[in-house]
Amino acid sequence: MVLFSCWFVPPATDICAQEPQPTFNPTAYKGKYLLVLLFSIDDPRAPMAMDLMKELYTRRRDVNMEVAAVCLNTGKDQEARRFTALHHPPFPVFLDTSGSFAQSLRITSGLGLVIYGKDGNVIATKDASPSAGQSDLSSSWKGFINRYIPIGYTPDDVPVLGYKPPFPVFEAIATNGATINIKSILGKKPFVFVIFSPSCSHCQHELEFLQTQYTSQEFKGKLEIIAVSRGDTTSTDALVKKKKLSFPVLLDTNSTITARFPSFIGSVPLSYLVDRNGTIAFQHTGFSEYTADNYLMELRKLCGLPNPPLLNPSGYSGEERCKVCHERQHIQWSLTRHADAYLSLVRKGSEHDPACVSCHVTGFGRSGGFNLEDKKTARRLEGVQCESCHGPGATSCTAFTKVKDNPRTRAQWEMICRSCHTEKESLNFKFEHRFPKVIHTAVPDLSSMSSQDREAFIQNYRQKKNLFDNPASYVGAANCKSCHEEQYRHWQTTLHATAHTTPQARSAPADKSYRYHTGVENPGGYPEPGREGVQCEACHGPGERHVKEPNKKGHDYIVSLSQECSSCVVEQICRRCHSPGDDPRFDFDAYIPRIRHPKTSTHQKK
Ligand code: HEC
Ligand code: HEC
Ligand code: HEC
Ligand code: HEC
Ligand code: HEC
Ligand code: HEC
Ligand code: HEC
Repeated sequence: MVLFSCWFVPPATDICAQEPQPTFNPTAYKGKYLLVLLFSIDDPRAPMAMDLMKELYTRRRDVNMEVAAVCLNTGKDQEARRFTALHHPPFPVFLDTSGSFAQSLRITSGLGLVIYGKDGNVIATKDASPSAGQSDLSSSWKGFINRYIPIGYTPDDVPVLGYKPPFPVFEAIATNGATINIKSILGKKPFVFVIFSPSCSHCQHELEFLQTQYTSQEFKGKLEIIAVSRGDTTSTDALVKKKKLSFPVLLDTNSTITARFPSFIGSVPLSYLVDRNGTIAFQHTGFSEYTADNYLMELRKLCGLPNPPLLNPSGYSGEERCKVCHERQHIQWSLTRHADAYLSLVRKGSEHDPACVSCHVTGFGRSGGFNLEDKKTARRLEGVQCESCHGPGATSCTAFTKVKDNPRTRAQWEMICRSCHTEKESLNFKFEHRFPKVIHTAVPDLSSMSSQDREAFIQNYRQKKNLFDNPASYVGAANCKSCHEEQYRHWQTTLHATAHTTPQARSAPADKSYRYHTGVENPGGYPEPGREGVQCEACHGPGERHVKEPNKKGHDYIVSLSQECSSCVVEQICRRCHSPGDDPRFDFDAYIPRIRHPKTSTHQKK
């Protein structure tokens, strides 16, 4: 085990401050991902790497991660200290006094990354290639990290939400001597562009698959294929011969071709399916039997050929499959919180907890559905996908079943929703209000919008406008005091009672006033007098009906917060004001004990 002294301790850090004698001990971060930058101040890219870490640090809570750095300049203590102080990282920096740390991870270039998994073991390392410039380093590192920790990075050459990036135009010489000009292919036929390495077996399988399609009766003459080899002439020629590849193969001499693709972070195979408009319609990394079926459907779609769904006949297929044909539905679904339901568990570090996954994945506990033991297929079924609502594609996709079922009634839909949206796990689930949000036609055609309009639309669409969705008015904390004196007294000791009086609150812009007052823009809410500060009803919902009928139960009266799931409901309420943007330091598990009212208090029962 490697131990170092904590060398640079930023103010208000989470890590060093907790330990009496700060030491770098990766196993101490168990239960969280740990991202560590290794840097030498002599590398001109070190400042950029530091900035990247600072950016990722602000998002650490969203992905249950900690960030640290290790300085490799053992002999230059003074300079290294000056460098670190200048960059002022918000995370701790350790010193590799013996030089053995970098060595043990085989990081030799003076700049690298190591990722520890939640079990405290190394899951990946990356040595910065000495030739990589600043900009490719930032994107390739983000791409690399994103493979292990879902930091939400999408490279510019990946199609997303209906937007299809243009395929880059360039010229290159093929192994057979011919000049390949992308411009002359673009727009005529769909084409596949695949980056491979001759020695990689998944790449070989993909090339075999493509060769079969290329010469098949079905695709002959309808499709172009261009492959790019990361190997040298000899190994490439040998493979071309062995696999009898009849499409052009290019050599990526000095990485000039791969440098045009932000998705390329060294892993192969990487493929792009380009449509007749010259835009990237699909992109894949890796190749497996599962991908092969998707691939085939995508190729048929691009070539306008008959396209029967290739679905898992006995279980769940995963949204990747459905996306090929049900593009519009898929875009709308991607905008709903259902698509991110698994990421919410990652944020809480609960993605392996059987008590949590059931409602945050697809087909849990059902034959062929999400199974914690089966890591490979589980990945495809993360989140509340199509088949959570429609049932397995093999029974719900009418193009597959060839039987047209009667559409479900609203009552049947409601039952499906309520299997997950229970009172304990969902804040005031009102079917008639939430149902319109999942109807796929609720979203306009995003592909024809400007990127600015799209951003604005998406932000607005995802916002929860009426969190409590409660028909009552706000009445103010003074109206709770008589019956809940102890809670009232406790609340007065918290910063919430005076949140509106701080300098921060006084200088806050008007659109942030919901953070400092109660019931802003709602009936009976602020600016009504007596609603200043974060009062009872900011957490428990508007209380007018509860005050009138205190013994009536349910979220339309008052939200108890002691009976509800603290991750699904309570934290959601806190995060409306303590969002990562407004309060990056917010840590629910550390803060909530100060907010729960002391247990000696019992509310007055009649
Ligand atoms: C290869 C193309 C393709 C794939 C892949 C595909 N579907 Fe379909 N699906 C269709 C077509 C075409 C129809 C319309 C058939 C019809 O009208 O009879 C359809 C119909 C449906 C319907 C019924 C729509 C209605 O009007 O009632 C549902 C639900 C559905 N699919 C769900 C899925 C799900 C879930 C998946 C993924 C597991 C999926 N489909 C994958 C092509 C596909
Ligand atoms: C398999 C479980 C499951 C099913 C079935 C399900 N949901 Fe959800 N739903 C969730 C989870 C989990 C979230 C929260 C995701 C997150 O934020 O992590 C959610 C979030 C939502 C949201 C977003 C919250 C908001 O107010 O913005 C809406 C709306 C919603 N569901 C509506 C529905 C409707 C309507 C149905 C039925 C047609 C339904 N859900 C079926 C699990 C489910
Ligand atoms: C019975 C189904 C169910 C179970 C079990 C469940 N959840 Fe949820 N969870 C939901 C639903 C439904 C929502 C959406 C809440 C809403 O609509 O207000 C949700 C929302 C969430 C959210 C997002 C809240 C937000 O900020 O918007 C998190 C985080 C979460 N759950 C974590 C967990 C954890 C951790 C567990 C295990 C302790 C768990 N869930 C167990 C159904 C469930
Ligand atoms: C939260 C539940 C839910 C999820 C998740 C969901 N759907 Fe649906 N889907 C519905 C409802 C509700 C309808 C509308 C049924 C109606 O109007 O009677 C619908 C309708 C459809 C239809 C019929 C055509 C249409 O647009 O009305 C297709 C096809 C379809 N869904 C495919 C998908 C695919 C593909 C996904 C995943 C990308 C998906 N659905 C995810 C609830 C869901
Ligand atoms: C007239 C007396 C009265 C007033 C005024 C009153 N409450 Fe209550 N409250 C009660 C009683 C009685 C209960 C216990 C109900 C039960 O356990 O069945 C209760 C329970 C609660 C609960 C727990 C709910 C549950 O289901 O466990 C909360 C939270 C709460 N009140 C908040 C408030 C807030 C906020 C206000 C001010 C807007 C308020 N109360 C005003 C009498 C009152
Ligand atoms: C910042 C959020 C927040 C505010 C503000 C708040 N509460 Fe609570 N309240 C909670 C939470 C969280 C619980 C659940 C405690 C638990 O699980 O033990 C709770 C529980 C309660 C309960 C149930 C019994 C108990 O003590 O656990 C009552 C009654 C109550 N609150 C009344 C009030 C009243 C009255 C006020 C205003 C004077 C108030 N609360 C202000 C978060 C808040
Ligand atoms: C209506 C907005 C709002 C809600 C809801 C809310 N808070 Fe706060 N909270 C604030 C504001 C404003 C402050 C003052 C500090 C600031 O500006 O961030 C604060 C301060 C705090 C503090 C004191 C922090 C310190 O610096 O000492 C804690 C602890 C806290 N909140 C926890 C919670 C928890 C836990 C919940 C959910 C149960 C919650 N809050 C819900 C707005 C809110």
